[in-house]
Amino acid sequence: MKKLCLLSLAIALASPGAWAATADNKEAFVSDLLKQMTLDEKIGQLRLISIGPEMPRELIRKEIAAGRIGGTFNSITRPENRPMQDAAMRSRLKIPMFFAYDVIHGHRTIFPIPLALAASWDMDAIGLSGRISAKEAAADSIDLTFAPMVDVSRDPRWGRTSEGFGEDTYLVSRIAQVMVRAFQGPAPSAADSIMASVKHFALYGAVEGGRDYNIVDMSLVKMYQDYLPPYRAAIDAGAGGVMTALNSINGVPASSNTWLMQDLLRKEWGFKGLTVSDHGAVFELINHGVARDGREAAKLAIKAGIDMSMNDSLYGKELPGLLKAGDIAQSDIDNAVREVLGAKYDMGLFKDPYLRIGKAEQDPADLYAPERMHRSEARDVARRSLVLLENRNQTLPLAKTAKIALVGPLAKAPIDMMGSWAAAGRPDQSVTLFDGMRAAMGQQATLTYARGANITGDAKVLGYLNFLNFDAPEVVDDPRPAAQLIAEAVKAAQQADVVVAAVGESRGMSHESSSRTDLNIPASQRELIKALKATGKPLVLVLMNGRPLSIVDEKEQADAILETWFAGTEGGNAIADVLFGDYNPSGKLPLTFPRSVGQIPTYYNHLSIGRPFTPGKPGNYTSQYFDDTTGPLYPFGYGLSYTDFSLSDMALSSTTLNKSGTLDATIKVKNTGRRDGETVVQLYVQDVTGSMIRPVKELKGFQKLMLKAGEEKVLRFTLSEDDLKFYNTQLQYAAEPGKFNVQIGLNSRDVKQQSFELL
Ligand code: NOJ
Repeated sequence: MKKLCLLSLAIALASPGAWAATADNKEAFVSDLLKQMTLDEKIGQLRLISIGPEMPRELIRKEIAAGRIGGTFNSITRPENRPMQDAAMRSRLKIPMFFAYDVIHGHRTIFPIPLALAASWDMDAIGLSGRISAKEAAADSIDLTFAPMVDVSRDPRWGRTSEGFGEDTYLVSRIAQVMVRAFQGPAPSAADSIMASVKHFALYGAVEGGRDYNIVDMSLVKMYQDYLPPYRAAIDAGAGGVMTALNSINGVPASSNTWLMQDLLRKEWGFKGLTVSDHGAVFELINHGVARDGREAAKLAIKAGIDMSMNDSLYGKELPGLLKAGDIAQSDIDNAVREVLGAKYDMGLFKDPYLRIGKAEQDPADLYAPERMHRSEARDVARRSLVLLENRNQTLPLAKTAKIALVGPLAKAPIDMMGSWAAAGRPDQSVTLFDGMRAAMGQQATLTYARGANITGDAKVLGYLNFLNFDAPEVVDDPRPAAQLIAEAVKAAQQADVVVAAVGESRGMSHESSSRTDLNIPASQRELIKALKATGKPLVLVLMNGRPLSIVDEKEQADAILETWFAGTEGGNAIADVLFGDYNPSGKLPLTFPRSVGQIPTYYNHLSIGRPFTPGKPGNYTSQYFDDTTGPLYPFGYGLSYTDFSLSDMALSSTTLNKSGTLDATIKVKNTGRRDGETVVQLYVQDVTGSMIRPVKELKGFQKLMLKAGEEKVLRFTLSEDDLKFYNTQLQYAAEPGKFNVQIGLNSRDVKQQSFELL
């Protein structure tokens, strides 16, 4: 058998493209190849580099041909990647390269940001966005994506809240699975699949104070119970890769954390794929203060189990010396190389290094050709992700014949519409709100536009937001005085029947390294809103933002508020669909909206406390802030529709549940309004008494359903012991007998409740 494998390897090495003749046994194949490799070639495989526009291509190809690079990211076209793969095929062992990219919420077609996808609570729509992203990326020669990001985030100050799926462990875990399956399709080796690399392992969403890259200090119970399950779900769904986080965990950086990367990930969870460090994370072990120098950083990382080091040169520089000195073992290197080769095998690259690169003659003549995009899917997914927060006096939907004044710095903002991490999306292909509304209103449209305000009036903030843009400043500033901008908008408002104001954040405000101390809409825009309100015209706020905002005043000022996040390439059309009632909004918040920064954290599923605040009672000596209303502005799971839904007749199939049995919770849902519409019915469970304190409620199921006007349906949720399990103080995962409350609602706050006993 062994001889056979060696023989087939030899055949493969003799001629590129003959990899198909190699053994179908992955382990044997990888072991055989490993035996052929020199130390330099092995270390070369551990190097993952970013291809910037400024990098000398000739030199990179030389390095690849010398076997000194294992994979790249940020080069994203077939013509760019083909010469690099050609170089790999000239290397001694012809080990193919892989090409990675941050395909987070779309590739050429940009779907809504992940937080918005979560707001759809629509697993089919989310899966569709992932599948299309994979197809588009694979067609551009991408083999692997650094996604999904499944960091549970409960601190909206953190700019990367926009990249995740919100605050709830169950919802994020469900989406983690859907995304991995969508990216990888039938298998990561399929030509139109890309390998998923789940990130940021682990707990990145819990950085202290929401400050990016900061520390995480967390009890093991909280970790296991609330923060780790989404990574686990992604791995159980077959994610081929894991990216480490830039933060530390209980005093040890993730990228040198042997407990995290080996005991938990490999031994406890059985992960068999590739691990990569995040950008520069190995080097940063020095800054964390756990490594004296680069040599020690490389040693800690490889020993912890970081297979590939992203964009630093430390492995190449230090591993040979460390090995020679006996500070690391040959097996430390071999284990890492084995995973890199294994991942390439799983991506199908040994069978065909050009699987996703294809032949030059088949390269798309125009990368941005409209037929390479998936606009109708993006529009549908986007409108499913919009959340109607307010709608007084049925201000929405608007009549297409109305005289509408569209104002605000985000009304004509194609870059912002795409959100951060917009992969290969192009602003000139994204539909702004202005474009979308005009198209919906047709020829007869009476749509006037005035900018009204800049994103920010703070020059320092503007400078920060524009710092990283080499080509052109991303946040364009209208140099006219603020008062003049407002006056123009007010004039437009006065002449209109209704005002639509597109306000919120520029996309860079909800991004990596964009933590905020303040969750308000920037002051320049709040002034505009105030002035618009004073006109007395009906005021619709279209919010664009990548995190919850504290919109306490705006909630009072506006007649309607539509949360649109950053809705992607087709955002303008999707928002127009909702504004004009061509689509009835159905999104629900995937995280709580706090009233103020001071209230954070406000996640709904907190532990029970001894002196809870009781609404309606004086708050003295209960858990609250005395200087503001207690409770969030909008609860988790909240979102309105143009129709009304009622819940009634909640029933449990039994008042007891046996450990091996199941229990059904049923509820009647009725569309009591005059429009067809979708809603999300949510089921929460509370373990009333336990050996340790349990959350006040936890999401355990949901169903999104469409009901015609007047239609009703009985929904059934089935619970078993598994749904009641938790990690106790000994980290044992078990359910405890006793009383459980089951709550069903259209958001996490307003629920119907029944109880049962677990025997
Ligand atoms: C740094 C980010 O933290 C990570 O999410 C991303 O995948 C890498 N850079 C590569 O772009």
